Amino acid sequence: MSRSAAARALARATRVVFVVLVCVASTRVDAQKDVRTTDQREIDDYHYVFSSDCQPYMTWQARALYDSWVKIGSPGRLTRILSCTEEEYAAYAHDDVVPETTHAPSYVWYAKERYGDEDGYAAYNLPGGMNYWAQNVGTDRRWVVKLDADMILLKPMTVTEIPARKGQTAAGIYGYLVGVDNGMAKWFVDEETERRLARVGGWEIFDADDFKRMTPNWLEQTVKVRMDKRVWYPYKGTGDVYITEDAPRPWISEMYGFIFGCGISGLTHNVMPSTQLYAGYTPWDEASEDPFIVHYGTKLDDGKGYKWDKHYDEGHVERMTCETKNVKPFPVVPLPREPGKGASVKERREYIKLKIMYITVTSINESVKKYNEDRCDPVVRRAMPDKAPSRAPTVELTRKRKHVSDKTPMKSVNARLESEKSASEALREMRLLEKELVHESRMRQLWTYAVLSWIIGSVLIGYRVCSKRRVRSQRREKNPFRVPV
Ligand SMILES: *[C@@H]1O[C@H](CO)[C@@H](O)[C@H](O)[C@H]1NC(C)=O
Repeated sequence: MSRSAAARALARATRVVFVVLVCVASTRVDAQKDVRTTDQREIDDYHYVFSSDCQPYMTWQARALYDSWVKIGSPGRLTRILSCTEEEYAAYAHDDVVPETTHAPSYVWYAKERYGDEDGYAAYNLPGGMNYWAQNVGTDRRWVVKLDADMILLKPMTVTEIPARKGQTAAGIYGYLVGVDNGMAKWFVDEETERRLARVGGWEIFDADDFKRMTPNWLEQTVKVRMDKRVWYPYKGTGDVYITEDAPRPWISEMYGFIFGCGISGLTHNVMPSTQLYAGYTPWDEASEDPFIVHYGTKLDDGKGYKWDKHYDEGHVERMTCETKNVKPFPVVPLPREPGKGASVKERREYIKLKIMYITVTSINESVKKYNEDRCDPVVRRAMPDKAPSRAPTVELTRKRKHVSDKTPMKSVNARLESEKSASEALREMRLLEKELVHESRMRQLWTYAVLSWIIGSVLIGYRVCSKRRVRSQRREKNPFRVPV
């Protein structure tokens, strides 16, 4: 082998060593990245979305849900999807109720515009708005959590406790959707799809890509069900008990549209009934005693004279303007004393039922009250809503901002509103910043490894070149046929 060939071989070997070192280095960095992600809270990889319109009835619900999300530590992102007409948007003064709000069109007359069907159906806003958001806005998070507006969050959702994966949602149960099993579904989906269906609804956790793929089918299937005369009165197989001769179409068409849309998109469901507790229901197992979500979609009744339902007239009254800030808040159930240690499971669960009813309505009342005070009471400086828990680094930033704004009590109401709105923007900014920092330190480590590898590589080359030379000269010395120099 000639000297230059040997050198080339050595250089090649060194390159291999270098590549291997860099690979090892980046694997280590990757391992650290995983650790970092955990530091960054897995619960931030979720994007909560819910659909709403511009009516007062939806506005207080939206605020109560938003506040509950803030209270549990503002995990991930939360978006309200508004579906209103242009005139409604022009008159709407409550964009600040949820800082991340998407303006989608109104879909109430979607079937009329599309298919000439004379049917105004408010529930078209749900698949319509969600589809609009998924296709036009979307998310940077891994998971999409679909919620209803009439929900309160008590704990951050997470797939480690509520398993979902690509191709399979985690979902709440809607047992009354009997059309899934009684043959009605066959009118809309093929047999293979039918096997994937489940009686689900309310809340779901989706892989974000699955969600985006699914929403067009959800909208399309909703129209199909709603327009199909076979499911109208007097057909009973949908499970909708409210259909009449005069209002023959099932209100729950959208729910079937959702289930069929999921099935057609190839999705299955991990049904988790105990993740959510309806306010007014008695918990039935340990998980439902400590639910992630409270849903106040039905009447709250303590059996002793207390009754409240979001559908009551007072729910439709405007209560979130300065002129209406003194409208009577919703009545709260009297809370009995907490049962002692010796109480039976039944007694304990009965108490939890009342406590959840109590928490639900007081938190709605408080949300409305705080919102009005912040907007209508510029002289009294109010504290920002509590941003628990302290493990979130983002909370510090929010507190700091609050502190700064506390020093400037003469700020106008508008400026104050701005600064409060910016609190949640600050949360987002902070998280972006965190990500950048992590990225930067990762790059720095990679460079360090690369430089180190070069140094080690060079030393190796030097060493091997030297040792080969030594060997060659030794060989020369030992060679009996050596031509003396
Ligand atoms: C609404 O809840 C609040 C608690 O935040 C309570 O002070 C108020 O009395 C409640 N309103 C009614 C009418 O019970």
